[in-house]
Amino acid sequence: MTELSVEKLTKNYSLLHQEISALIEGENNMFANIGNILAAIKFRMNWFWVGLYKVDQDELVLFMFQGPHACTRIKKGKGVCGTAWEENRTIIVEDVEKFDGHIACNSNSKSEIVIPIKDISGTISYVLDIDSAELNTFTKLDAKELNKIKAVIETLI
Ligand code: SME
Repeated sequence: MTELSVEKLTKNYSLLHQEISALIEGENNMFANIGNILAAIKFRMNWFWVGLYKVDQDELVLFMFQGPHACTRIKKGKGVCGTAWEENRTIIVEDVEKFDGHIACNSNSKSEIVIPIKDISGTISYVLDIDSAELNTFTKLDAKELNKIKAVIETLI
């Protein structure tokens, strides 16, 4: 990334964090807040798909999202989402075609980032999945900034 694009991205994240704080301030309805957070991410960053999958026994089930319809269920350890859950780590995929076992819900998705989200007991209860229509979209900077948003979501669930 060029210095200029890092600067622009940092500025965008700063605006996104401000938007999210303003959107959830004074509201305690989880669905309203998560819906607004996902919409804010999608439209501020102009990504293809932004959503949550919720853990249900040995599967992830599609939860709230912004973007085209997507795969409904993903087994633990499968795809990028199931792997991030099983391995308890943020995964950045620069090119989905190069990720063994990637689940293609939509052929427009070219790169992605998945971040596990923990409930109050420390158990992973959701994953945040963000897809881009461009290759090589997500970097360590995105992982750092999106993990801040993950921490906000953890206070809401
Ligand atoms: N690509 C994901 C599946 C979810 S969709 O991208 C919305 C995966 O491999 O887990």
